[in-house]
Amino acid sequence: MIILKTPEDIDAMRPACRLAADTLEMIAGHIRPGITTEAINTLVHEYTLDHGGIPAPLNYHGFPKSVCTSVNHVVCHGIPSNKKLVAGDIINVDVTTILDGWHGDTSRTFYVGDVKPHARKLVETAREALDAGIAAVRPGATLGDIGHAIQRLVESRRYSVVRDYCGHGIGRDFHEDPKVLHYGKPGQGLELQEGMVFTIEPMVNAGKPAVKLLRDQWTVVTRDKSLSAQFEHTLAVREHGAEILTLPSSKGGST
Ligand code: MF3
Ligand code: CO
Ligand code: CO
Repeated sequence: MIILKTPEDIDAMRPACRLAADTLEMIAGHIRPGITTEAINTLVHEYTLDHGGIPAPLNYHGFPKSVCTSVNHVVCHGIPSNKKLVAGDIINVDVTTILDGWHGDTSRTFYVGDVKPHARKLVETAREALDAGIAAVRPGATLGDIGHAIQRLVESRRYSVVRDYCGHGIGRDFHEDPKVLHYGKPGQGLELQEGMVFTIEPMVNAGKPAVKLLRDQWTVVTRDKSLSAQFEHTLAVREHGAEILTLPSSKGGST
């Protein structure tokens, strides 16, 4: 069941979405060789609480930390640890914030020091894949249109789209209907309508799409150990297209 949001609901979601985005922006200034993913977790946790929010991942279905940190061949749901980042790594930081009962969910993949061109190309493709998905959003378009736009872009670069994880509706709950697949066929699937609020969060692998769940029951890695990159926004379907809700204050996120 899809919970449509009124314009007032969307207004009420803005502070949560903006805080998630501002948290990521804050983290951007700390990504460098030598920092541990645990230190990133602490920064996210404290920044969130200092701004009146709650980090949604903490204890979510037993997740042990306040943010997901996914390094190199980790696709998603990496658990912060005392492992240090090293120059050349890529790391996705996925922040989900609860504020006044509403969720905002956004992630970016960052470069750690100097990163080789092949890894940069993958990361830039993941960024463009999210943009392509967002550009397909308008009332009357379908979920298949979004998935197709993403898949087409990614496969044109000879990369692959992860099939096992998808975007999702979001609101008072972290994960609501619908499931937003990052692959598909034009015109297929659910028709988008004003008031839908969901994430788009394509995971793009340099190699094959297959993933494996590690024994910690959270960490998802590429089966072939190839690099993986991801970007995520929370957005609302508005009259003329997508409105990205997870923009930081510095980029015009509502205040
Ligand atoms: N933030 C992830 C998403 O985009 C979900 C993380 S679930 C957690 O949907 F428990 F690992 F935090
Ligand atoms: Co997320
Ligand atoms: Co999400």
